[in-house]
Amino acid sequence: MSYNENEVIIVEVFEAIEKRFSNRKFLDKQINNEDLNKILKAGMQAPVGRGRYDDMHITVIQDKSLLNEIGTLIDRNVFYNAPTLVIISSKDDGHGLDKENSACIAMNMLLAATSLGLGNIYLNLVIGLIKENKNVLNKLNLPKDFIPIVGVGLGYAEGSHIKEHKITVNYI
Ligand SMILES: Cc1cc2nc3c(=O)[nH]c(=O)nc-3n(C[C@H](O)[C@H](O)[C@H](O)COP(=O)(O)O)c2cc1C
Repeated sequence: MSYNENEVIIVEVFEAIEKRFSNRKFLDKQINNEDLNKILKAGMQAPVGRGRYDDMHITVIQDKSLLNEIGTLIDRNVFYNAPTLVIISSKDDGHGLDKENSACIAMNMLLAATSLGLGNIYLNLVIGLIKENKNVLNKLNLPKDFIPIVGVGLGYAEGSHIKEHKITVNYI
């Protein structure tokens, strides 16, 4: 890979980081399989503690009746009617890395979706609701001992809400 090619890739990553925002208004239009597969692949390329990729699992929910059931578990749709809801699950590896691993996978997916011009959002609240509802949890068809950890909503965004965030830094 030439220096120039590298430079292009670095520019794209920074652009995606800058343009990513939590989309809470999805259009009623499904994403295509090519984009979905790119996003899933980006998730799989994430770092995972101790390289235990077998302890991770990804579920893609596009079934409208299941999405509707999850969307009505409480009085508001906590995944904002995203037409694709991805659930990242993990086995408890005894090292407490399941949340961190899932977050790394989710973050890669958010940036990949942004690069593809798709709306996306990191979802925590939906996970608690799914775990509390045995019926919905069973419908995820997870392999034995896997627990849902993080949700990612994907679809086409209506508008954008990019804002710059600040976190305090100290230099020593
Ligand atoms: C661990 C985590 C959990 C989150 N859970 C939710 C959630 O359940 N619902 C939601 O609307 N946003 C959720 N968010 C999105 C944050 O509210 C959002 O990232 C933050 O307000 C910054 O806005 P931005 O993503 O548009 O830059 C979550 C983000 C993270 C990192």
